[in-house]
Amino acid sequence: MRRDSCKCEPLRLNRCGTASCPHVVQAPTVIAMVGLPARGKTFMSKKLTRYLNWIGIRTKAFNVGDYRRAATTEKCHDFFRADNIEAEDLRNKCALMAIDDACKFLRDGGEVAVVDATNTTRDRRKLLVELICENNNFKLFFVESICDDPEIIEANILEVKVCSPDYSGMDKTEAMQDFLQRIEHYREHYESMDYSYDKNLSFIQIFNQGERFLVNKLAGHLQSRVVYYLMNIHVLPRTIYLTRHGESQMNLQGRIGGDSDLSTRGWEYANALAKFVEQEKIPNLRVWTSEMKRTMQTAQHINAPKAHWKALNEIDAGICEGMTYEEIADKYPEEFAKRDQDKFHYRYPTGESYQDLVSRLEPVIMELERQENVMVVCHQAVARCLLAYFQDKTSEDLTYLKVPLHTVIKLTPVAYGCRVEFKYLNIEAVNTHREKPKNVSLNRSKEEALSTVPPNPAVNDVERHSPGER
Ligand code: F6P
Repeated sequence: MRRDSCKCEPLRLNRCGTASCPHVVQAPTVIAMVGLPARGKTFMSKKLTRYLNWIGIRTKAFNVGDYRRAATTEKCHDFFRADNIEAEDLRNKCALMAIDDACKFLRDGGEVAVVDATNTTRDRRKLLVELICENNNFKLFFVESICDDPEIIEANILEVKVCSPDYSGMDKTEAMQDFLQRIEHYREHYESMDYSYDKNLSFIQIFNQGERFLVNKLAGHLQSRVVYYLMNIHVLPRTIYLTRHGESQMNLQGRIGGDSDLSTRGWEYANALAKFVEQEKIPNLRVWTSEMKRTMQTAQHINAPKAHWKALNEIDAGICEGMTYEEIADKYPEEFAKRDQDKFHYRYPTGESYQDLVSRLEPVIMELERQENVMVVCHQAVARCLLAYFQDKTSEDLTYLKVPLHTVIKLTPVAYGCRVEFKYLNIEAVNTHREKPKNVSLNRSKEEALSTVPPNPAVNDVERHSPGER
């Protein structure tokens, strides 16, 4: 059935190519931002896009400012005056190009397109309804950011606007003045979303960066999820620290899973980690561990309140729990190859896949978004999933992210992204990272299957002590 003639919602397949997850049955959706400049629209668009991709919903943001910068080098506030007819014409064309590309993306299998623009007039929003809902049968959800706190606005301009490509090379104060005038030009025609005109539209209004919310006519699961996410994020400065547990007894034997104690060097890391935290002087730090002994032992000496999450437990390797990679290749060669073919979607028999792990970790991410300074002490696969969220990595890259033992990963939100620093605490540990081998076919030799397995310290004591390999 063709989508344009279909009144019911088309069945959407997600990136795993299956329709088993609840989020896949819904019409493609456009999320259109609304609000004056410097109200955090791009911040929200980027963050939301990253989140939706991470939970497996194919999403892309279309920033009208980028289209404008490609079309003209004009950037002075005069370009944004309401009486600058020529410029207005160009700005409208740029908006149309962005909307057109967003619709193309959805027609090509995208699930959510975020149109990051001001969309400040009723006429513009009417046009969006026409192009998106009437012409394409897509869903449309407006996200309006309203802010009247001059301090928040000024901080936003300083953080992301004065250093934007629009003002490269310009003095900061001059850039700030120009931007404030640009806002005034938009304000002249600004029509906020209003129940008396817009009662049939689906929208959320966010006041002063989350002080208050107003939600109208939520249409479906995806929109509820978007609302829930937007209601949980905040912009307060904070740091997230991510680390794996100290080296464990099973790491020493090259065995996966299990619930073993720390090795001697693992305990050294537990001490070093407590000292590291002390030196960082982190206000109101919370420490989260999994429910496994090795993470709780690692956090044992840290002087901060602790919580233990089952959701942070390591990937369940099912029938392969407690085995070495060599043993898996020996006993279950086909399973071993299938995992190499598609590590993200591969589910260990009676165990989990990385995709399962991402679903399990969603509440952790949501709670991390709500919190301020947190240290998460977890495991290799879990840390990869969390890191992928903050670094906006694809599902394929996620499964091979390097998260060495005895290293703290410091994540600091900056502008639209996140600064990532790896801090190795100088205590040697085994290397547990197995790269994707070249040959992933089912009939490969055992040698090929094992070509990227890190040296097993139980059989190779020399390798265990080679510096730098963790
Ligand atoms: O080897 C340590 C470990 O945490 C195992 O418990 C887990 O199965 C594995 O890493 C996950 O890494 P990968 O997905 O690369 O096998």
